[in-house]
Amino acid sequence: MKKFPDNAVAILFSGGDSPGMNSLLRAVSRLGLNRHGVEVLGIREGYRGLLRAARQCNGDEKALHCMKQEIADRRGLQGLHSPGQDIVWLDHAVCSGIAGMGGTILCSARCDEFKKSEKARAEVIAFLKALGIRALIVCGGDGSLRGAECLEREGGIRVIGIPCTIDNDLLFTDMSIGVHTAVGTLVWAVDHIKDTARAHRRVMILETMGAKRGELALRAALASGAEMIITPEQGLLTIERMTKMARDIEEGMIGGRSHCIVLVAEGVEIEGDASADSHIKKRNRAYVINDIFNAHFQREGGPFREVLEVRPSVLGHLQRGGHPTASDCILAARFAELAWHSIMDRNEGSGITALRNNKPELVGLTAGPMPERAELVESFTRLHEALSSW
Ligand code: F6P
Repeated sequence: MKKFPDNAVAILFSGGDSPGMNSLLRAVSRLGLNRHGVEVLGIREGYRGLLRAARQCNGDEKALHCMKQEIADRRGLQGLHSPGQDIVWLDHAVCSGIAGMGGTILCSARCDEFKKSEKARAEVIAFLKALGIRALIVCGGDGSLRGAECLEREGGIRVIGIPCTIDNDLLFTDMSIGVHTAVGTLVWAVDHIKDTARAHRRVMILETMGAKRGELALRAALASGAEMIITPEQGLLTIERMTKMARDIEEGMIGGRSHCIVLVAEGVEIEGDASADSHIKKRNRAYVINDIFNAHFQREGGPFREVLEVRPSVLGHLQRGGHPTASDCILAARFAELAWHSIMDRNEGSGITALRNNKPELVGLTAGPMPERAELVESFTRLHEALSSW
């Protein structure tokens, strides 16, 4: 009978999933087993699963002992497929063949209670200490990494964060795992929509994800040749700005353009959002812009009245799925290697893996934004403008 491992490393995935998470899980587990001889425990459903497991034991020695035995008895795939088991002892087989899969086999989740309640976090901290883990690897975006910082600050848990988000809104790193794949998916989506846009000489407004930032949309616009881009970084989207865009599209069409693809990031603020009685905020950005454009094109005496049609499309969760690209898988392997390097160094504490000048580096849990990131967005915006003007 195998004994529950002392001093293991635990890993969880939290927040919105991103392509490359499975690749990361495989890399963390393989490096643990093959290079460092340390066992890895996978926690299902992020902080939610961790809190659930903590409550299952509820500080009770006997319950904890039973749980440890159950984890040791049902290792690998058996544990992964066992309903109600939130902690899985990872072996080679469980991570075999997953590198190219989207999503995460351990599942991810958002946990409001963990985020808001210090008491809930204290339960998790006590549980992690009772499990005897040497470090917790937290893979996710902004909120997930803030949660990791709380575990370190409030309970002294050693945490290593690994940036995983399609939004690329973690400004202390050049890249997060998942961005490269999501941009590729967006380019694929634009290509498809472009075909039908050309066939009907239409204006297509595509709304992308990206949370409060526009980098995902901007990268996709640069790569796909989308004619227009609207990001939160450009400031408030006023009716006036939208009307000006519609006028520019009209002029382009008069000049010979056959269609127009507009990419709008979901985080863009639109005039009227803030007013209490406004319903605009609840609507997708693509639909609001659609209405303004339509009103302009269909105006009395307009050159394209009853001819130029607009169609909005909210691309949604398809952006988060799919096989991770080679770039994302390589980034996952490099971040995993750095995470282990730091964990195995007794003199190092907690931190987050970051990519800076194409080199993985460990930064502090509260690392601030790099100025280069804002500059990059500005230069990409200018570059897109120069590439897309007619
Ligand atoms: O942070 C990743 C992200 O995909 C954002 O781009 C988006 O706003 C959000 O998550 C969507 O979350 P959910 O999957 O809960 O709808």
